[in-house]
Amino acid sequence: MTTPLVGIVMGSDSDWPVMRCCAETLKRFAIPYEAKVLSAHRTPEAALDYAASAQECGIRVLIGAAGGAAHLAGVLAAKSELPVLAVPMPSKHLQGLDSLLAMVQMPGGIPVATFAIGEAGATNAALFCVAMLALNDPVLAKKLTEFRISQTEKVLSKTLPDLP
Ligand code: RP5
Repeated sequence: MTTPLVGIVMGSDSDWPVMRCCAETLKRFAIPYEAKVLSAHRTPEAALDYAASAQECGIRVLIGAAGGAAHLAGVLAAKSELPVLAVPMPSKHLQGLDSLLAMVQMPGGIPVATFAIGEAGATNAALFCVAMLALNDPVLAKKLTEFRISQTEKVLSKTLPDLP
């Protein structure tokens, strides 16, 4: 079995429909990952243990996704020196603004890199992992270049409907 390079941790299985975009993007670039449900509030010891052992298990980047009082990415960062990316989940009552502010306002000394709320953030967190890992992997760097070229071509080929 391939050792995962990216650990995706989400606070609840209810986050999966959004974080699926992250997993799909990593899969597209053939980056081995593992996805887990661990909560900063509901399973604090397990979240801390996972973060503390991630680096020695071969993980190179951690992604924490949570909604509401979203402390998960910060908790992972508290116990690991790996780069930690944070994806704010859209929440029921405040549409993810609460998650965003909870994640982005880390105290100085324990950084997490916070992405956009929802699917765009989930996808971009994966693309950011690709960019980081590509620094030491020319094959992956080539795939990223090809992805960007193909994305540019798709946008430039768009046409808009004529008015009736
Ligand atoms: C957070 O609470 C989770 O990350 C999720 O976004 C939110 C709601 O969780 P559930 O009540 O759906 O399990 O911890």
